[in-house]
Amino acid sequence: MDKLIIRGNGTLNGEIPISGAKNAALPLMIASLLSAEPLTLENMPRLADVEALKSILSNHGVDYRVMGKKAGDTATTGRRIEFQAAEIVDTHAPYDLVRKMRASFWVIGPLLARAGEARVSLPGGCAIGTRPIDLFIESLQALGAEIEIDAGYVNATAPSGGLKGGHYKFPKVSVGATHVMLMAASLADGTTIIENAAREPEVTDLAECLNAMGAKISGLGTTTLTIEGVTSLHGATHRVLPDRIETGTFAACVAMTGGDVLLKNARANLLQEALDVLAQTGTEIESGNEGIRIRRNGGDILPIDFSTDPFPGFPTDLQAQFMALVTRANGVSHVTETIFENRFMHVQELARLGANISISGQTATVTGVERLSGAPVMATDLRASMSLVIAGLVADGETEVNRVYHLDRGFELLEDKLSAVGADIHRVSTEG
Ligand code: UD1
Repeated sequence: MDKLIIRGNGTLNGEIPISGAKNAALPLMIASLLSAEPLTLENMPRLADVEALKSILSNHGVDYRVMGKKAGDTATTGRRIEFQAAEIVDTHAPYDLVRKMRASFWVIGPLLARAGEARVSLPGGCAIGTRPIDLFIESLQALGAEIEIDAGYVNATAPSGGLKGGHYKFPKVSVGATHVMLMAASLADGTTIIENAAREPEVTDLAECLNAMGAKISGLGTTTLTIEGVTSLHGATHRVLPDRIETGTFAACVAMTGGDVLLKNARANLLQEALDVLAQTGTEIESGNEGIRIRRNGGDILPIDFSTDPFPGFPTDLQAQFMALVTRANGVSHVTETIFENRFMHVQELARLGANISISGQTATVTGVERLSGAPVMATDLRASMSLVIAGLVADGETEVNRVYHLDRGFELLEDKLSAVGADIHRVSTEG
């Protein structure tokens, strides 16, 4: 099992290229199930989750082909991968595959829409709360699906003649259930209206891709999406949008160490709220055509109060990283998590590095300390793991982050990107 060794090494300076977004790439790959023609995705990140989903999708009949490099491509240029589901060969997604990644549960939407049935294991994924599936079930039922849960599986069947357009108002914003309903409704008979839809940029990215494949979705970027069902979708080429979580994570790294780094290809409008919060810590942020420049030269990190919320609010996937940043603030910060219960698992590990954090309900109170000190720590989930790396960048001595496979799920070439701007970070592979 790999681990990362980090030593505090002063400021970060230079450029970090931002990769294609994992959370966009995954639903886009799943959308390839909706058409017999090829879907070519550009700017695909090299991530363990992408690899895992490839093998899950191939089980259903998706062939994939990594396309050749173009002139000017570098190690960090996203890949072009073509996905094609000429035929759906299996509508069953077994436990062994689905448990590794919650997003693979989302195949239920396209399988149901195109093949009329799906038998999908109840999901696994990061251990951040109970993550129920009631919203998936209710929204698919609104399209006429019959659903029963049996022995750890969700069995879904479309009515004869296929899914029907329907109307569903989400009682709670769900990114995954919005993705699934969008995909299913694209091939349903008639018009579907989704109210209180997730507005995350990755949802809009999926809707744009589906429209490029011939779907008729309007209301993109708003909470009400209208889908006129079509009988089939065709092939398309779509470029995955830049990863806003990777952007915010590296921005927090630079804010922590000080320095001056251009986050190339990053787009400020994908994470404006997080950038506004970061600015309150005394970090300078400059957004331009090339990307976002993050700068902090001397001066204290100022304390902040923030609360996670669905987009356009502060993303829950950046909560741990920003909490790590304010462990060194010159005062008391308050961090409130409203999306997931049990998403403070990093607190205990940050405490091992000397952070002073107390939790009451959904709010963590972080009292800034002058020094953090390196220690062995354990990555607990994908995003939380990055909080330990951020703390390690300024801790005295050596920080050893174990269970790095969590990070490999969602951060492309992490240690290469950080070393290139001056961090002292390297990976050690150990047996077992
Ligand atoms: C996606 C992201 C994840 C991010 C999250 C919230 C991907 C691959 N993952 O996860 O990184 O942290 O959005 O921005 O894109 N819920 C229900 N019932 C349901 C479904 C969800 O109660 O049927 C609840 C969840 O438990 C959670 C909240 O809704 O409390 C939001 O979850 P959701 O938006 O669905 O998250 P994911 O799509 O799993």
